[in-house]
Parts: sequence; C-alpha cells; structure tokens
Amino acid sequence: MDLFGYALYSSWKGIPAPPCAYERDDGSRAPCNIGDYFTVSAEDKQALRLARGRTLDIGCGAGSHALLLQRKGIEVLCIDTSSLALQVCRGRGCKRCRQMNIFRHKLHPSSFDTILLMGTNVGLAGTLDRCKRLFRICSELAKPGARLIVTSKDVRTRTNRQQVRYHRSNLEAGRFIGERRIRFTYGRKTGNWFKWIFIDPVTLRTTAHASGWEVESIINAQRGRYSAVLHLASLTQRTLR
Ligand SMILES: C[S@@+](CC[C@H](N)C(=O)[O-])C[C@H]1O[C@@H](n2cnc3c(N)ncnc32)[C@H](O)[C@@H]1O
Repeated sequence: MDLFGYALYSSWKGIPAPPCAYERDDGSRAPCNIGDYFTVSAEDKQALRLARGRTLDIGCGAGSHALLLQRKGIEVLCIDTSSLALQVCRGRGCKRCRQMNIFRHKLHPSSFDTILLMGTNVGLAGTLDRCKRLFRICSELAKPGARLIVTSKDVRTRTNRQQVRYHRSNLEAGRFIGERRIRFTYGRKTGNWFKWIFIDPVTLRTTAHASGWEVESIINAQRGRYSAVLHLASLTQRTLR
C-alpha cells in the first residue's frame, strides 16, 4: 500500500494523523510530521528564488514547492509515483500533474529550465550508483544552462551513538555512508521497506559533476540539512568531457 500517499491524502482531507515515523532497518525511528509536507521551509524558499522557466518537480508529494512557484507565474510539471499524492496536488491547485517514476519517464529531452528534487529527494535514488543515474536523467531533461535545486543531508554531522554505528556498518559493508533502508509508519500501519540515500555537499558536487552539473550555491540548514542550486554546463563543455 502507498502509505505515504495515504497519509498526505488523509491529512489534506482533515483526518487527524496518528503518530507517523520513518523506521530504519536497525530499529531506530525518526518522527515524521505530515503537516511539514504542506509548507515550504525558509531555506527551500531561498533556494526556490533561483527557479525560473519551465520547471519539473520530481517526487512532488503534496505539491507545496510547485504551488509556491506557480503563484509566481512559473509553469511547473509535478510528477510522483503516488496517485494519492497527485490527487492532493491537483486538489491544492497544481495545474500539471502526471503519475510517473522518474527512472522510467517518457518526458522530452532538453525541455526544462529548472528541475527540483526537494524534501531530500536526491534520496529517492536509494544508492550512490542510482544517484549518478538520477543526475544523468536530470541533465538529459534539462535545457543547457538549466538549474537543478536539490536538498539532502550530511549524515556525518550526526553524533548520536546509534547513528554513528549505522553509518560505520554501511562503510564496513562497502556501502556509501548515507545509504539506509527505511519504511514509513502511520499509526499501526507500516509501509514496504525501501532504500533512501543522503549525500553530503562534497559527494553531491562530484556525483552531479559527472553529468555536467556544477554547484552554484549551498544553503545550510539545521542538523546537517542543506539545499543546493546547481546549473548545467553548456552543451559544448559537456561534449568535451
Ligand atoms: C520525501 S517525499 C518529498 C515530497 C516533496 N518533494 C516535499 O518536499 O514535500 C518523496 C516523494 O517522492 C515520491 N517518489 C519516490 N520515488 C519516486 C520516483 N522514483 N519517481 C517519482 N516520485 C517518486 C514519493 O511518492 C513521495 O511523494
């Protein structure tokens, strides 16, 4: 079941949410406030000031970032794998919404001026290899000079003993430090396990660079979270690589 979409949809319908959390496969739980998906943080607003032109919001959730841009007259295409999330987006006023997995998209190449991966959505790639693929997909969909706005987290800032142990076990198993297996819980209901990845600004720079993206600015937030604005180097520069 699409439990996250169900949580967004129920919250939008005004049904009081039971306690929600992201449970990791070592048993740790991070509480999740569904209401947060209906607002845009100050850091995200700052990064979104650089959005312009035709915009693609990958994994749009409740559509909060898309709505903010739409109000400024920016045309946004919202995509998400969750039909429930997209019902919320449409209901809240997002004009263009399509159910789609970004890894199996059927969008035209070179058609977006700005691409968003908000809500730590670089993470939906799950592993560092798929992150590289995600950045490549973004560069194929982007027009030359386009911007990519992403948010993620530097997990090395976490000093809690259980976090440190989890990150060390990743390294010992030959995985990237920021990879995790998690599932969403909504009251007593639990969703399926899936992989998520947090990447630090240095790894972002090198991983995205391989597909032609250059980091323009980084906005640091609390607890290792950050937003980054990248731009696509010109076609000639990309061909020379
Ligand atoms: C953490 S939420 C972020 C939502 C929104 N961007 C925000 O910041 O409020 C991740 C969203 O990405 C969607 N998603 C996950 N994997 C996806 C994929 N491969 N393609 C498109 N959407 C995906 C999920 O259904 C979910 O709505």
